[in-house]
Amino acid sequence: MSAAERTPVEALSEAEAAAELEWLAGRIAELDTAYHRDDAPLVPDAEYDALRLRNEAIEARFPGLKRADSPSLRIGAGIAEGFDKVVHARPMLSLSNVFNDTDVAEFLGRIRRFLNLPEEEELAVVAEPKIDGLSASLRYENRRLVQGATRGDGQTGENITANLRTIPAIPRELPSDAPALFEVRGEVYMPHSSFQELNRLQEAAGRPLYANPRNAAAGSLRQLDPSITASRNLRFYAYAWGEADELPADTQWAVLEAFRRWRFAVQPETRRCSTMAEMLVYYKEMEAKRASLPYDIDGIVYKVDRLDWQGRLGMVSRSPRWATAHKFPAEQARTVVERIDIQVGRTGKLTPVARLRPVTVGGVVVSNATLHNEDYIASKDIRIGDTVLIQRAGDVIPQVLEVVMSERQADAEAFAFPRQCPVCGSHAMREEGEVDWRCSGGLICPAQAVERLQHFVSRDAFDIEGFGAKQVKAFHDDGLLRTPADIFTLEERNRTSEAPLAEREGWGETSAANLFRAIDQRRRIGLDRFIYALGIRHVGQGNARLLARTYGSLERFRTAMEAAQAREGEAYEELLDIDGIGAVVADALLQFFAEVHNREAVADLLREIEVVDMAAPAGDASPVAGKTVVFTGTLEKMTRSEAKARAEALGAKVSGSVSKKTDIVVAGPGAGSKLKKAEEFGLEVLSEDDWLDLIGARRDNENDNDKTTTS
Ligand code: IVH
Repeated sequence: MSAAERTPVEALSEAEAAAELEWLAGRIAELDTAYHRDDAPLVPDAEYDALRLRNEAIEARFPGLKRADSPSLRIGAGIAEGFDKVVHARPMLSLSNVFNDTDVAEFLGRIRRFLNLPEEEELAVVAEPKIDGLSASLRYENRRLVQGATRGDGQTGENITANLRTIPAIPRELPSDAPALFEVRGEVYMPHSSFQELNRLQEAAGRPLYANPRNAAAGSLRQLDPSITASRNLRFYAYAWGEADELPADTQWAVLEAFRRWRFAVQPETRRCSTMAEMLVYYKEMEAKRASLPYDIDGIVYKVDRLDWQGRLGMVSRSPRWATAHKFPAEQARTVVERIDIQVGRTGKLTPVARLRPVTVGGVVVSNATLHNEDYIASKDIRIGDTVLIQRAGDVIPQVLEVVMSERQADAEAFAFPRQCPVCGSHAMREEGEVDWRCSGGLICPAQAVERLQHFVSRDAFDIEGFGAKQVKAFHDDGLLRTPADIFTLEERNRTSEAPLAEREGWGETSAANLFRAIDQRRRIGLDRFIYALGIRHVGQGNARLLARTYGSLERFRTAMEAAQAREGEAYEELLDIDGIGAVVADALLQFFAEVHNREAVADLLREIEVVDMAAPAGDASPVAGKTVVFTGTLEKMTRSEAKARAEALGAKVSGSVSKKTDIVVAGPGAGSKLKKAEEFGLEVLSEDDWLDLIGARRDNENDNDKTTTS
């Protein structure tokens, strides 16, 4: 996830800020380590800079949350706190890299010269996929796992024994034929499927997402609580060793076989190659296979097979002379943004997608990349026609990393994010504090139709028996259902249909008749359910009920929504006055009714059904029925929400602000401006006790429920 996709800093809660600072500290430390210590940057510089800026911005807003391990207090990498240090008995080496066939030939030529091998002498090499995870060293003493460590800087790592013990592929004991002292080394990694599952859980829990499987594996291994590591489905492939009493064989190939016997997992794709030609064929094969492997690999490691030769070859600086990594081309590529399309999700979210000139990235042809949202495009200033650098990481959707500005055409125009839904033409809206634009044509937008129709017939809305999510989807897919009104014309259309419902699979005369009867039974519906069924954003059951109570009839409601469009004046004030309806809800309502498509869909629907007025619940018997009441100050006998619920149960409308239309103001101690206003307008002001008297609740609390009991 890039910084641009996250919640704006000014919208973060303190808890979110703390959680994100924690994540940023970990992530930036990890990137520092990769960059400064391993010479292997994990992300483009721009992305790194964005993380540091974000960290600073959050710290500037919440200075109290600045952490002792804040990246702003530190440069470069060290060993993390929290784990003990382990000095490796034999250093954990890194590998030199080669990038093409010539490099490979030179690598083999150097070895031949060093060993003085005649040309006809076979130089066998074991070729292993280079897994993109973290290396670990497992120390077995008397054939029992006694210590597990990270690579660290190669000399000193972290003691993560407890965490490594939770990985099922790591045996706790070695069989009796293994040497008494032996260190097995290999790679801890996370398969793609587990990575995706983990990020799904992270997202559901509101935690930051991991950027790729390698990060996820690193984050999972470096948990202070091993039970977290245990839940992460980490795997381990063995491919090397450290200190050892003796070796179980005299070739790399045969040691790997011994590892298998000792019940370690060994990379199944590993191959012994006798010639350079075989090595290069293998490399090509694996490159082609790369995208379909269930885990990330970033190259091939070649290792001289004979261990006596490995010994003679030794190492240069920190890498063995007998091994090298043949890297796959970086999973980045340059291409051109040909178009920017807007996709509309099931819930109306507008997502911009770059349509790219097709390009091969890491063995896969890429022609689309997500652009996330308006701000993402703006922050990177991505324009149609731009040459961009794209990246594909594992199964993750390709990302646009940056624009190659030197290639920008002089006439390229900044991208204007559309204000209309490209699918149905309705207006798009973007709420304050949100990054996404949404289509407001919920009722008619084909991209959202299924979701909306399912909501429409759901239990708290129209509640049509036998007409659930499954039927909606099937009818929609068959073109029978597009708008809510279509539900109520189904029977009529069915009569003249060439493929009547009763003849469809899974349906018969009886079930079809039952469905039509169930639909007919809902041709009369209460105003509250009706409003809820429209699926307006932020208008759930509670708000729908408030609106229904306030306006009473559909006619009044629709008129009010029209009159309030100006967002000023009486109708608008009345809407905002409803206790519980704020500016955000009001805006969503007005947007909905501003949309001609939605008004048409409602009108179509009203030709088929009748909306029943919302009667004041307690009828005229209640002295406060139909009155507008405002509570202010402290209530002593009940909570504000209880007072409100009771008043509403008696047919009163509870408002949050005092106006000339207010009938009663109930003022408790501490009442301020609202009370003053009430006095100015000459309104009836009651104490809490007066109010309780008025509604007959003071002396006989036990009779509260009279109105709802049937006896
Ligand atoms: S051998 C002395 N074999 O690559 C040899 N390394 O750049 C040291 N890696 O830190 C490593 N797969 O994390 C070796 N089959 C493989 C490997 C492998 C992945 C990683 C490992 C190491 C890094 C070196």
